[in-house]
Amino acid sequence: MSFWKRHQIFEKNSIILLVGILLVIAIGGLVEITPLFYLKSTIEKVEGMRPYTPLELAGRNIYVREGCYLCHSQMIRPLRDEVERYGHYSLAAESMYDHPFQWGSKRTGPDLARVGAKYSDEWHVTHLKDPRSIVPKSVMPPYAFLAETELDASTIADHLRTNRAVGVPYTDEQIANAAADLKAQVDPDSADSDAFAKRYPKAVVRNFDGKPGQPTEMDALVAYLQMLGTLVDFKLYNEKANLR
Ligand code: HEC
Repeated sequence: MSFWKRHQIFEKNSIILLVGILLVIAIGGLVEITPLFYLKSTIEKVEGMRPYTPLELAGRNIYVREGCYLCHSQMIRPLRDEVERYGHYSLAAESMYDHPFQWGSKRTGPDLARVGAKYSDEWHVTHLKDPRSIVPKSVMPPYAFLAETELDASTIADHLRTNRAVGVPYTDEQIANAAADLKAQVDPDSADSDAFAKRYPKAVVRNFDGKPGQPTEMDALVAYLQMLGTLVDFKLYNEKANLR
């Protein structure tokens, strides 16, 4: 009996066919699922990614609180039109410290994954206060109150701790200094700024909202927006990818 003739056994008996199908699916399932039990992470390590600074994390919380994700995605797909409009496609590693991730599912406004360093802080502050003063036909709501609202720094260490509980590698030192770091990032003259820069490489220290004094919610949100997409050096990333 030829090999292919034997296959008739399956074709002629539905119970044997069913058992055969289950067996094949079970093997496929094991091959896919078993490695996930011993692999620590399936996310490719990428140089440059670091946990968010306390100020950026506070800004991210405001982004989530205000529902920015309902109109903005943070996920550039590897399609030519997306890459030409927004820049390098998003990497899994870029959202590995996001709990929850901000990929979004709807683009009423543009994708924000690479908006960092695209505009000045003044642009963001003016735009967030009154989007139509910059884009007359914009349907984005105004968020002027953020500039008047002092940022609540009292809970920021707990936010870092909570992120650590779900896997973000914040150190004890980062958690202990969270409130001080939050203030240091808006004050380039502060005595803490060297220690802060060591704890968070590539973090931008600036007075984001243009107003001296206590950090406002506007400071935090603009710090977060200005960081988006700036942590990974894509020139370096692509050079390394070509060597792989
Ligand atoms: C109702 C939908 C809507 C919501 C909610 C919304 N936006 Fe927008 N956003 C838009 C639209 C539409 C544009 C494009 C026109 C413009 O620039 O105002 C835009 C543009 C932007 C831009 C400029 C992007 C670029 O590349 O030019 C930024 C930054 C931005 N929004 C941030 C935010 C943030 C932060 C929030 C939450 C505090 C937010 N948006 C909430 C609709 C929205």
